[in-house]
Amino acid sequence: MSNTNQKDRLSGTTPAETSAESANKDEQTTSSESNKTQHEEKQDGSNSTSSASALETEKDGPLYKFFTNGLKDIYFAEKEIKEALKKMQEAATTEELKEAFEDHELQTMKHISRLEKVFRLMGEDPEAKKCEAILGILREGETVTEETEEGSMTRDAALIIAAQKVEHYEIASYGGLAALAETLGLSDASNLLHRTLEEEERTDHTLTDIAESFINFAAKEDDNEVQESGSRHKGSRQTAGY
Ligand SMILES: [Fe+2]
Repeated sequence: MSNTNQKDRLSGTTPAETSAESANKDEQTTSSESNKTQHEEKQDGSNSTSSASALETEKDGPLYKFFTNGLKDIYFAEKEIKEALKKMQEAATTEELKEAFEDHELQTMKHISRLEKVFRLMGEDPEAKKCEAILGILREGETVTEETEEGSMTRDAALIIAAQKVEHYEIASYGGLAALAETLGLSDASNLLHRTLEEEERTDHTLTDIAESFINFAAKEDDNEVQESGSRHKGSRQTAGY
């Protein structure tokens, strides 16, 4: 089954409609992100005094240092993820998955600037610290493209799992950092980190929905077709042998 047919059958749209919808969606995403950023800036300003006083008491402690190290770690990770998402968009087979990766790339840019805001709230310059864990997860994700056929649904099924491993790393990081920020009395920072956490969780659910709604089944159908064609070839070779 061709992937274009797959897409048309499932979505009921033409490629031109899909592309227009995608452009529209991007505009809406950018606009709503801009509104959210303005909203966040207002929120940041309203409570900055309480954060500043909390910082004075906590800055020398090991927990505060652990927290800032964690921020540098996820700041590095987000920048690497942004680049990886571009490659994943190119590698994906279906428009649905390409759009999901594109949307998440836009979100990732927002996550990076939100982290920069958290650094500023703490009176620190944004700084990235190399994180071997995310580099390993992303390297594993790259092997998906090498090990699957271009244009196959198996590639999309595998890319979703690779992307979800990244999401779960981010969910664990943001969940822990948001909780630590709250413990350290950095409620503004905690709110920002929580907002990103919720977006990462939504992305994870979206990827699950895409996989379970059709991509995994389509990959299995591709598998069946390969097996049927393989057994036909085998049969004809056996016949020729007699
Ligand atoms: Fe992110």
